[in-house]
Amino acid sequence: MKIIGEVGKWELRNSRLHITTAEGQVRISQISSATFRVQACSLDEIFQESGYACPVIPEGMAFQFSEREDSLVVETLDVRLIISKSPFRLRFERLDGTVLSEDDPGLGIVWDGPEVTNYKTLQPGERFFGLGEKTGPLDRAGKQYRNWNTDAYAYGPNTDPLYVSCPFYMGMSHENMYGIFLNNHWETTFNFGAANDRFSFFQAKGGQLDYFFFAGPEPADILREYTALTGRIKLPPMWSLGFQQCRYSYSPDKDVLRVARTFREKEIPADVIYLDIHYMQDYKVFTWDKEKFPDPESLIRQLHELNFKVVVILDPGVKAEKGYHVSDDGVENDVFLKYPDGQLYRGAVWPGWSNFPDFTASRVRKWWADYVGKLAKQGISGFWNDMNEPAVWGHHTPNLIGFELEGEKGTHKEAHNIYGMQMALATKQGAEDALGEERTFILTRASFSGGQRDSAVWTGDNHATNPHLMLGARLVNSLGISGFPFSGNDVGGFTGDAAPGLYRRWIAQAAFHPLMRAHTMINSRSAEPWCFGEEDLEVARNFISLRYQLLPHLYSLFYESTKNGMPPVRSLLFDYHREWKIFTEAFENQFALGQHLLICPVDGEAALAKVYLPEGRWYHFFNDKVCEGAQEHLLEVPRDLIPVFVKAGGIIPMQSITQHVHEPHDKILRLHVYHGADGAYELYEDDGHTRQNEAGNYALRKINYKDGILTISPQEGAYKSAFQHLHIYLHGANFKKAKAGQQELKIEKSDFRFLKAISNFDPYEDYPDASKIIAELLRVETSWYSDPIKIQFY
Ligand code: GLC
Repeated sequence: MKIIGEVGKWELRNSRLHITTAEGQVRISQISSATFRVQACSLDEIFQESGYACPVIPEGMAFQFSEREDSLVVETLDVRLIISKSPFRLRFERLDGTVLSEDDPGLGIVWDGPEVTNYKTLQPGERFFGLGEKTGPLDRAGKQYRNWNTDAYAYGPNTDPLYVSCPFYMGMSHENMYGIFLNNHWETTFNFGAANDRFSFFQAKGGQLDYFFFAGPEPADILREYTALTGRIKLPPMWSLGFQQCRYSYSPDKDVLRVARTFREKEIPADVIYLDIHYMQDYKVFTWDKEKFPDPESLIRQLHELNFKVVVILDPGVKAEKGYHVSDDGVENDVFLKYPDGQLYRGAVWPGWSNFPDFTASRVRKWWADYVGKLAKQGISGFWNDMNEPAVWGHHTPNLIGFELEGEKGTHKEAHNIYGMQMALATKQGAEDALGEERTFILTRASFSGGQRDSAVWTGDNHATNPHLMLGARLVNSLGISGFPFSGNDVGGFTGDAAPGLYRRWIAQAAFHPLMRAHTMINSRSAEPWCFGEEDLEVARNFISLRYQLLPHLYSLFYESTKNGMPPVRSLLFDYHREWKIFTEAFENQFALGQHLLICPVDGEAALAKVYLPEGRWYHFFNDKVCEGAQEHLLEVPRDLIPVFVKAGGIIPMQSITQHVHEPHDKILRLHVYHGADGAYELYEDDGHTRQNEAGNYALRKINYKDGILTISPQEGAYKSAFQHLHIYLHGANFKKAKAGQQELKIEKSDFRFLKAISNFDPYEDYPDASKIIAELLRVETSWYSDPIKIQFY
């Protein structure tokens, strides 16, 4: 074991500080005024660059630094880095001297064979968040986690690791936020003061210590900087934000059509239907079952006529079988993984013994992409990448398997965690090449930091239980904290049968998640919205319809994510990390859709719910009852609802219910504005399915609300909005009149109703003490493309 030791010499070269210590060498660069990069390796190594998570790492800026007798000090506008010389240790602090993070004085950076660890002093009360798809609490203090993508079938609320690895976390020390991203895709371990009271650490089993330190100060700043490095999503097709229905498996083709037709007959909005592994001939990838799916083009055409998009599953294992064209072709093109002696590696998955493409080679990705393209040309719109940890029936792929790693060559130990992400990249390339201007949608089970650029993730094989409903909320929250904006859980639970009440609560929660997909296991009860009885069907229709009403909001949030990495679903960490209550078990699952819409998950059976409303003034979303923040509230929750609140200052754009995302709505944009605090919003629109937005065909409007004055900026971009009327619902204010310029505007009292009453329950009337709904309707039938709109209420 080697501890890094004392600083020997140092020099500034190409905006990088090169330091040699007794046992290692360190390179430090400043990426922005709040971000540093630290790389360390032993004396006999040369520095390596890993480009999977961060395709382009900025060179580094000019340093402002000074030398003191015992240290080197780098100071930016936001943060100070003190590099002590004897021994070499780093301390990041705010300019007022408050420590953000510092190396453990006795340990610092330690090498133990190929393993490298950085020990950081545990600060009093330090909290830890993120690491992507990890079970456990929101605040991860006292826990340890491993990053090794794993096929975690039927995982429990504490199982670790799961399918996605994301070695990025945020910490809060002395009330200040910071972030650390370990740019290393080998197996890594993060300890946040588990089984010790001295340090937190991050450790890699191989590769080098290469980490980024983000000084924030806010979580949103950290995420912006992190996603500037690891990338952000492009706008997904609008249809992928609609309701998605999946099952393991709909088969034969008639069954797929039956399900799609039932959605239309029962008027449950939906956009996507999935084909799980039974569409293939004997599970052979890039084939169709000849008996069950004899005419895929006709099936796809009929589904398109019903306005459904089709997503098919693609597993990486290619059946090793002479005469199967994909297998023969793969062998001929030398695309499959091999042992070091040159023999092809075979692992057992759905089709039996299979070979696995090496997705870490661009020529192999191209090979795969061509097959994906053929499916896209047949009319498949989206692709679902599964088993790409890679999974081999719960076993471990042998570590000595060789991978190309873009010419760098390495073994499974190094390639494992990025395999799934590179498969998703290959799949996306194939779909995009074939679909031209049309956007595609890739859903993956395994991924790695940076994978957010290419795909959405779902949280794998969950259970139909209450703890999983809650864990599902936390997983989506944590993925959002960690740069993955587009995720969701199998609604209703993958394994097991949802008990009465669970499905309706699950569908209500998922209506506010970025990805809303119902899915269930083979031989479990069917999980379409009509399979749980009349009431659940009504609840499902209500909440799915609500999601379609919220599409302008959801889509605007996705747009925001493309700009700054902020996830549509936000853990309360983002805006309320100074309120300790949000970290308690009772409230850690709550999340916001955007900045102001607060959703409180509740168990299947719960008739009462304790929720925490952070500071500010809140409106009950369904009836406008006002609740004060910075306190707990005990609420009665009818079986048909979950508690949803909007914060004063919130602006939520909505539309009429449609049966699928491209069905024309009633052309009225409904702007719900919540009085009581200043509000700001960016409303984004485009055609929702092509890439023309990238050429300027979009509409972006800035909306502001302050003390009875609402302003809407002229639009940026050339897209002709599908909305022709604007209705403003001003909640919580009792103005009697309104003017736009000199023009007097008509104000009407109006009932807004996001949900329909179900059975004997009416979400609007069952609150006897609810304040009267104040919804004032304003109709501005105007061209609102180039003129600013200013409306004054008085
Ligand atoms: C895996 C997936 C699941 C899928 C099944 C069959 O268990 O996680 O979603 O339905 O395989 O393909």
